[in-house]
Amino acid sequence: MLMVIENVLDKATVRAFREQLDGAGWSDGQATAGSLAIRVKHNEQLPDASPVAQALGRHILGVLGRHPRFLSAALPDRIHPPRFNRYAGGGHYGTHVDSAIMPLPGSPQLLRSDLSVTLFLCEPGEYDGGELVIETRFGAQQVKLAAGDLVLYPSSSLHRVQPVMRGARICSFFWLQSMVRDDGERELLFDLDQSVQALTSSPDAAAAAQALQLSGLYHNLLRRWASV
Ligand code: NI
Repeated sequence: MLMVIENVLDKATVRAFREQLDGAGWSDGQATAGSLAIRVKHNEQLPDASPVAQALGRHILGVLGRHPRFLSAALPDRIHPPRFNRYAGGGHYGTHVDSAIMPLPGSPQLLRSDLSVTLFLCEPGEYDGGELVIETRFGAQQVKLAAGDLVLYPSSSLHRVQPVMRGARICSFFWLQSMVRDDGERELLFDLDQSVQALTSSPDAAAAAQALQLSGLYHNLLRRWASV
């Protein structure tokens, strides 16, 4: 499932982020590229130890932890601290697949990347190019979102970032391990949850009873499919 969630950060928060990010100490993104990705990765990144990256990353995780649609779609178990990258002057990231298993910073645990997240922090008009292109079963999807919007996509997908030929593209990106590893199962749970939410908000008593039944089904499927 490829899902866009709009307005995760409001415009005032994006502006505050950008004030910090525009003057931050960017370094070569190759420092964190794997042996295959290093040949195709041409961008800048904030070091994981950067206080700006850590503070803004915490803010993003705080917002997402209270975001019903994100939580319903991702069913997150472990989330990698958000990173920040910048593409300018023809910078791009050729076709690659994200590492399946990675260390979880600040923890002895590992993280299996089930879902990848890109949160856009520049408006589309600020730069030319920079589309995130994700290969899906239905063909390649091009994603270039408004500042404050994010896209969630399976980490198993081949993807790339097109060259940025004018301006700069700044995004936050990270991975998560979901309680439900299988994309198809997670998608069914999301659809069911959306139906439950819609029925729950109906004033009709019969709909409320249906919501209760379907909610039971949701939790029993979650019990069957989730690992925690
Ligand atoms: Ni990637």
